[in-house]
Amino acid sequence: MSPVARSSPASRSGTTRSRSEQLRVLRVLASAGADRGSIELTSREVGQRIGLSQQAADRHLVALERGGDISRTLHGRRPSLSITPRGLDALRAEYQALRRIFEGPNRLQLHGIVVSGLGEGRYYLSQPGYADQFPARLGYAPFPGTLNVRLDREMIRRAAMVKQWTGVRIDGFQTSGRTFGGATCIPAKIGGSPGHLIRPDRTHYEDVVEFVAPVSLRETLKLADSDPLDIELEES
Ligand code: CDP
Repeated sequence: MSPVARSSPASRSGTTRSRSEQLRVLRVLASAGADRGSIELTSREVGQRIGLSQQAADRHLVALERGGDISRTLHGRRPSLSITPRGLDALRAEYQALRRIFEGPNRLQLHGIVVSGLGEGRYYLSQPGYADQFPARLGYAPFPGTLNVRLDREMIRRAAMVKQWTGVRIDGFQTSGRTFGGATCIPAKIGGSPGHLIRPDRTHYEDVVEFVAPVSLRETLKLADSDPLDIELEES
């Protein structure tokens, strides 16, 4: 199976086909203004706009609500609908996938400063549950650890755009009662050396980004803490 970009809630709320119909419903709702506030629209009206029966439209609305993509309240007898931040993320991911087809992969340049972490990168990367996925998905077995790069405020804003990019998916897993989260990897040139930015699904920092590479970047690039570093990112 090829690596998949960002996890999709499809498995939670039905088949892939019904997820794609749900996304059509989300698009109809957004076009009617539910991306900016509440709108009043019945399931019959939603169905009419995309050529589905009222029952089918209603099923999708229920699934979207259960999946946290929309919220619904009743205004008298008319349902009032709005798209949640999670639903907007799902629409943005669709937009990015199409944008990539017609406009090509995104690119971004960052610069920051090399910093040390707590040695956690080495611990995580040596977990077999992750290590077994890397060669096939990244094309190399990473040097055990992550190079941490601190960004200033302007760069943090720039790096936030990467959240919507497609990338190489690394799946989470469970072992002896512990859960290890998934991550997305974005191809990168770190000081000219190839590797990936690795973005854990549940990340605790915004101002530090982490990179994996087939080699020790500190050794290859002769890096010490506080050294400046230029990075180029390109969507996979
Ligand atoms: O968390 P911390 O940065 O202290 O360490 P780590 O993620 O366990 O990585 C071990 C060491 O290898 C750190 O000094 C990283 O900066 C470095 N490293 C590197 O030079 N090149 C890589 N591709 C990965 C890590």
